[in-house]
Amino acid sequence: MASFPSSWPCVVLIALLCSLFLLGLASSNVYIVYMGERHTDEPNLLEDSHHQILSDILGSKESAKESILYSYKHGFSGFAAVLSQSQAKLIADVPGVVHVVPNRILNLHTTRSWDFLQVKPQIVDGILSEGHSGLGTIIGVMDTGIWPESESFRDDGMGKFPSRWKGICQEGNRFNRSHCNRKIIGARWYIKGYEAEFGKLSPSDGVEFLSPRDAVGHGTHTSSTASGAEVKNANFRGLAQGIARGGAPSSWLAIYKVCWATGGCSSADLLAAIDDAIFDGVDIISASLGSPPPLSTYVDDALAIGSFHAVARGISVVCSAGNTGPYPQTVINTAPWVMTVAASTIDRDFPAVITLGNNQTVVGQSFYTGRGLNKFHPIVYGADIAATNIDGTSAGSCDLETLNATLARGKVILCFQSRWQRSAAIASKSVLELKGAGVIFAQFPTKDVSCPWSFPCVQVDFEAGTSLLTYMAASRKPVVKFSFSKTVIGQQLAPEIAYFSSRGPSSLSPSVLKTLLLQELIYWPPGHLLLHPSYSILLKLKHLHLTLNLIRELPWLVPIYPALLHFSKESIPSGALQQLSLH
Ligand SMILES: *[C@@H]1O[C@H](CO)[C@@H](O)[C@H](O)[C@H]1NC(C)=O
Ligand SMILES: *[C@@H]1O[C@H](CO)[C@@H](O)[C@H](O)[C@H]1NC(C)=O
Ligand SMILES: *[C@@H]1O[C@H](CO)[C@@H](O)[C@H](O)[C@H]1NC(C)=O
Repeated sequence: MASFPSSWPCVVLIALLCSLFLLGLASSNVYIVYMGERHTDEPNLLEDSHHQILSDILGSKESAKESILYSYKHGFSGFAAVLSQSQAKLIADVPGVVHVVPNRILNLHTTRSWDFLQVKPQIVDGILSEGHSGLGTIIGVMDTGIWPESESFRDDGMGKFPSRWKGICQEGNRFNRSHCNRKIIGARWYIKGYEAEFGKLSPSDGVEFLSPRDAVGHGTHTSSTASGAEVKNANFRGLAQGIARGGAPSSWLAIYKVCWATGGCSSADLLAAIDDAIFDGVDIISASLGSPPPLSTYVDDALAIGSFHAVARGISVVCSAGNTGPYPQTVINTAPWVMTVAASTIDRDFPAVITLGNNQTVVGQSFYTGRGLNKFHPIVYGADIAATNIDGTSAGSCDLETLNATLARGKVILCFQSRWQRSAAIASKSVLELKGAGVIFAQFPTKDVSCPWSFPCVQVDFEAGTSLLTYMAASRKPVVKFSFSKTVIGQQLAPEIAYFSSRGPSSLSPSVLKTLLLQELIYWPPGHLLLHPSYSILLKLKHLHLTLNLIRELPWLVPIYPALLHFSKESIPSGALQQLSLH
């Protein structure tokens, strides 16, 4: 009989401790060693010096080679390496090292899928129709890569890239040199920092490509918004029909894939991409990513560090403000040297008409264009069909699992936003699950429509919701009918900061005012857009028909910015900034 009973629990324990120890190492074992401005024009010398520092700490050239992920040597000096905490501390004391920053995982912005499903690249008429189409500008996009076959990236009419361009077309899964063209003039991908934190990414499940190819669509969206060529008849399920084109359709695109299908991006990878973009010769860097508050100080923030060196070399850097609005102090990427961009609405509306049984009509907003419309259905108020043991308030807002399935089936359910249930999307989900015919969601007036496009859902304001209730109380058999959505342009006051967009002030540097440029060139009354008028400065360049708005806060609008930057750089007359006046 084998006799290890007494010893083997101990073995198990040791194995367990070992694996815990390994797990501990696996989380944040990548450090960015930042060494400031580079002191030589010889990238190879810099790289050697980075290896030397690492060899001295780790004891051998071989272990230094194993540990180093990137040598930053074009825009600034530094490196990223896999280190233990104590090794990182030792390196921080090496002369020449400015700061050692633990690798961070950043998130992609635009978490709301409808946001980029619904919104085709916006048409930026006005300034750009005057011939300012980004000609000669190279936009570097730090994102999830690109789907190069998309029509927006055809290179008809594009000139050859300029001789100053030093970028490359890096190959990988389903991406080879033939995928670059006169529109996509460069493409690279960065994964070492991400894999050092999370282990190897496997492309075999088809979820991700180890190449510049975009597996999720985010980077394709941002790139085409910034620089897409014209695509005729672009639309989303028949809505918003028109010509889709990027803000700067004549600009070139350089793709830097730093984010992965999980939505995560490693700051060590991002920094390597910025370093290369500086070397390659981009004019503008666009990044819709970041991490939520607490904000790191600028020396602990890879995006702030990299953008600092980019801006110092005349490259404009445009970052997203985040999507955690509408609350104050939620804005991120607030370094004074970057443009921080908020989401805005445009003057486009998707009206849906609700006809009541008494022939009155109520107007709301909807994306739905599918079947089941133009027919009367009985309507009930959620609170009147609460499931057993559910209070009326929860059922009134049509929260999940609050409605009686028997009573909801086949009906249009009227729901009112509550403090706890604020979303037409959730109401639609609960009614869809119960096989209801549709949802009318009443809430405070906003242009931010959260109805899904896949279910008959109309968003109305409280006033319209209340008049529906009045009708229902007065009618023995209340019924309603929805009519098709169609796009109406120009009837809304726009642009406005979108509801979900993060707001200022910066929780790190509250006194920094930032520039807001919006793509719509219509006049809007001061104070309408301005969330905190005391902090806002309006600068009007009347002869350019361009309103610049200096405001403290500024996701998908990000990619439009590069187009405007191109424009404003060359067109804002010197001295224009002196016309600043406080409102
Ligand atoms: C590159 O990819 C394209 C399309 O996937 C393919 O047709 C072409 O043969 C590839 N070229 C090379 C050199 O591998
Ligand atoms: C509603 O309008 C239609 C067509 O205009 C008409 O045939 C119908 O009788 C009206 N119904 C009521 C209740 O007024
Ligand atoms: C739903 O309502 C019906 C009819 O009033 C009732 O018989 C049934 O028990 C209710 N079911 C639930 C889950 O509340």
